Amino acid sequence: MLTLWLKAFHIIGVVMWFAGLFYLPRLFVYHAEASEAPLRDRFKIMERRLLVMTHIGGAFAIAFGIATLAAEPFYLRAGWLHVKLVLVLLLVIYHGVLVKLVADFRQDRCGWTPHALRWFNEIPSVLLLASVILAVVKPF
Ligand code: HEM
Repeated sequence: MLTLWLKAFHIIGVVMWFAGLFYLPRLFVYHAEASEAPLRDRFKIMERRLLVMTHIGGAFAIAFGIATLAAEPFYLRAGWLHVKLVLVLLLVIYHGVLVKLVADFRQDRCGWTPHALRWFNEIPSVLLLASVILAVVKPF
């Protein structure tokens, strides 16, 4: 029963985390295309607030993922979990790049083009797809 609660909060954290991982880069695309100062200032506020929610979601997802693992330690030997943890590492790196981009946009010194940001925005979709299939289907 406890494990089900841990898993529920794990998934709530994953949803919150991905809301930010998906929408922050989209905001960056609009931000990079905006030329008027008041609009850019509005984007800076939105990005800062969304980043806080993304931090909270990421912390929940990882903390409750580890807690679920502590409750069901036999998964430590599962191949799907090992691959999922590598994907989680990539997600954490992606999250770190978002932090850097929020800081760069805040100082009006982000050099990425909207086109590059659009491609960057596709990365979390691939990681989400692979992680959820691994966790639910457990193919190996
Ligand atoms: C350090 C990070 C993480 C750890 C240690 C972790 C660990 C776990 C564990 C042990 C389970 C239980 C599996 C089961 O009982 O069937 C689980 C379930 C799940 N995880 Fe993670 N996870 C992490 C991150 C993530 C991420 C980033 C995602 C999505 C992108 C994710 C998606 C899921 C889903 C959808 C389930 C539910 C599977 C089911 O109940 O059928 N996890 N996770």
